[in-house]
Amino acid sequence: MAHVLVVGGGIAGLWTAVRAADAGHDVELVTKTELADGNTRHAQGGIAAALFPDDSVERHFADTLVAGDGLCDADAVRVLCDEGPARVRDLIRFGVAFDHGDSGLERGLEAAHSRARILHAGGDATGAAIERALVATVRRRAVRIREHTMLVDLLTADADGTDAAAGADAPRGVRVVGVRLLAASGALEDVRADAVVLATGGAGQLFAHTTNPDVATGDGVAAASRAGAAIADLEFVQFHPTALAAPGTPLISEAVRGEGAVLRDREGHRFMLDLDERGELAPRDVVARGVWRRSVEQGSPVLLDAIALGRDVLERRFPGLGAACRDAGYDWAVVPVPVTPAAHYAMGGVVTDLDGRTSLPGLFAVGETARTGVHGANRLASNSLLEAAVFAERAARAIDAGASVEPGSARPVRLAVSPAPAVPRALAGAAPGRTNDDPRAEVDRAALQALMWQHVGLERSASGLAAASDALDSWRAPEVRDRRTAEDRNLLDLARSTVAAAIARTESRGAHFRSDAAAQALPGTAAAGRPRAEHDLP
Ligand code: SIN
Repeated sequence: MAHVLVVGGGIAGLWTAVRAADAGHDVELVTKTELADGNTRHAQGGIAAALFPDDSVERHFADTLVAGDGLCDADAVRVLCDEGPARVRDLIRFGVAFDHGDSGLERGLEAAHSRARILHAGGDATGAAIERALVATVRRRAVRIREHTMLVDLLTADADGTDAAAGADAPRGVRVVGVRLLAASGALEDVRADAVVLATGGAGQLFAHTTNPDVATGDGVAAASRAGAAIADLEFVQFHPTALAAPGTPLISEAVRGEGAVLRDREGHRFMLDLDERGELAPRDVVARGVWRRSVEQGSPVLLDAIALGRDVLERRFPGLGAACRDAGYDWAVVPVPVTPAAHYAMGGVVTDLDGRTSLPGLFAVGETARTGVHGANRLASNSLLEAAVFAERAARAIDAGASVEPGSARPVRLAVSPAPAVPRALAGAAPGRTNDDPRAEVDRAALQALMWQHVGLERSASGLAAASDALDSWRAPEVRDRRTAEDRNLLDLARSTVAAAIARTESRGAHFRSDAAAQALPGTAAAGRPRAEHDLP
């Protein structure tokens, strides 16, 4: 029996915990806030899988590769699409009640899918339904749950497992033997484990505008990076095209466009058709840039027009979104609503093989924390919940098979590894409890988020990225005193690594768009290739 320590309470962490417990392991699940507080419960559109007679695994596979803009790992995509239907059936067994119509399971269409294949629950509350079912399932297992407990660092040790340490003093790139945790009381605790599974989600809080909740500060990727794990593809940040242009930028699901809603500029013109024949259902990166540019050009947010769907469909299919619009003062059955892109999903992360193993023995990563290779440069809509389920299942099986003692490099991964942070490691995060004699000012989270939005957002350039890099270097990480400072340290580390990765990728590809790499500029836009103006969206 292994001691399996899972960090994170979203679909990926819960799934791994349930399966590892089913296999008889001693499972401990640590989560920064409460079990249901992660990104999963905010997922609206649904979960994609080839389940219907007019669809096929091959089609899902091909759509995923096209969206990924040439950078997907085809083996990983094959696994995702092959095993996806079985994992969706598992979800149904776990108690997720996907929506049904007269002819069986209902399905939606989203951008860049050649078939309607997105299952949803509660209309637009798929993530919440999945989270509820998995939380109930994990509570029925003998899983020890520690809420309000944050990962600070990984404990690494020499090859024989002795001399465990964390943070700047630890041996790098050797073996992970546990975690350093921060309790709500502020106490630090080192916990040993045979296998550590990182399932801490993404890092939307790097940006001033995001659809992600407050907890999305990239804790797992930052800790893995400090421990020397291979990290890749951080430059690929997915910006969702349609967050409501209102405080908190709530997500307006792509499924709304899948049902027929259209994007209009302030003259009422459907501008996306000028940019791509797929219009509002072009891949997400294309639509996000189209929305961004038109907003900059006209100096105000563009509009999502869902009026033609009719009040009945809107209320039945998207009850939560109708409420979000009402909270912001709009009745979307009557008026188009203003929308803006917002940071949504991290395609990069901790490099794993097909079984969730990272480059460090003892360390696994699943869900948004992992860079499995399935998303390439741009994730296909509604593949994220599926990826979490498919690879969490595989990670749990690998742990059960004793794989925690083997490094992930047992299967060669395509290591498009992001460059190391542009700062000496000793500066990239002060060790907890240590006095910091660095004279620089402590990082200011709001300023970091504004900087990342301005220079590392939907359009990037060498000069903007250099300015971002300089500004990030002018800050030091705080000593870890509490959750806030631990998160700020992670955000600074990740911002530096993201900027370094964006500087290194001098082409435009998928979600990484360089305005100084004109070859990939969108055709037909007045703004293509020219430096963008300041943007006054919320
Ligand atoms: C959405 O509902 O538009 C988001 C779904 C996703 O990010 O895959």
